[in-house]
Amino acid sequence: MGIKYKNRIRDIGRLVSIMKDLKRVFEERRSVNFFDRNKKIDDETFKNIINLATLSPSSFNFQPWEVIAVKSDAYKQKLYNESCNQPKVLEAPITLLIIGHKHGYFRENPIWDEKIKLGLTEEKIQGIIDYSEKNLYSTEEKKVAFAARNSSLLAMSIMYAAKYYGVDSHPMIGFDEDKAKEIFNIEDNKIVTMMISLGYFDEGHELHPREKRFNYNDIVKEY
Ligand SMILES: Cc1cc2nc3c(=O)[nH]c(=O)nc-3n(C[C@H](O)[C@H](O)[C@H](O)COP(=O)(O)O)c2cc1C
Repeated sequence: MGIKYKNRIRDIGRLVSIMKDLKRVFEERRSVNFFDRNKKIDDETFKNIINLATLSPSSFNFQPWEVIAVKSDAYKQKLYNESCNQPKVLEAPITLLIIGHKHGYFRENPIWDEKIKLGLTEEKIQGIIDYSEKNLYSTEEKKVAFAARNSSLLAMSIMYAAKYYGVDSHPMIGFDEDKAKEIFNIEDNKIVTMMISLGYFDEGHELHPREKRFNYNDIVKEY
C-alpha cells in the first residue's frame, strides 16, 4: 500500500471520528437546570472551553464580544437577584455574561491592526467603517443586532465547546439587562446578549426529555 494512500485512509478515519464526536456534542448538549454545587470546573478546562469557542465566525472577523465569568458567591448572589431568581445562577460554579459590542467595527478594535499587517490600508479601513456606519449599522437597533448576531455565535460555540470538554451548560435571557450592566460596570456601547451557566449536571435530579423540535418540513422554505 502506498504512503499517500495510507495517509488518505488515516485522514478519512480521523474525519469520520471528528464528525461522530461533533454529532454527539449536538445530540448530548442540553440546557441543564440543576448543577452539582460540589463539582467545580478547573481553570484549565474553563480556559480550553473559551479558547475553543473563540474559533467562532464573526462579521469581518471583528469578534465584537467579551465574556464576564461570575465565580464568586457575592457576585452570583447579586446576579441571581436580577435573574428572576433562577437557582442555577447560584448552583453553577460559573455563570457567564456574554457581552456584544455595538461598535465592534470602529477603528478602536485591535483586529484592524492585524488586517493592516495583512495589507489593508488605513484609507480602506476608514472606507469600510464609514460604509458600515452609514448603511449597515446606521441605527441603534441595527447596532444592537450587530452585537447580538455576532456574540450569539460565540455563546453557542461556548455551549458546544463545554459539552466537548464534558461540561454542561444553560443559556438564559431571563434577567434584567440594565441591572446586570450596573453590577458589572458594562458600558452603554455594549449589550448583555445572554447568560450561560456552566457546570456539571446534578445527577440527583431528572433531566426532562427534550421538547419537540420543528424539523426541515416545518422551518425551511425553498425558493
Ligand atoms: C437565548 C436563550 C434564552 C434562554 N433563557 C432561558 C432562561 O432564562 N431560563 C431558562 O430556564 N431557560 C432558558 N433557556 C433554555 C431553553 O428553555 C432551552 O434551550 C430549550 O427549552 C431547549 O432545551 P435544550 O437546550 O435542553 O435542548 C434559554 C435558551 C436560549 C437559547
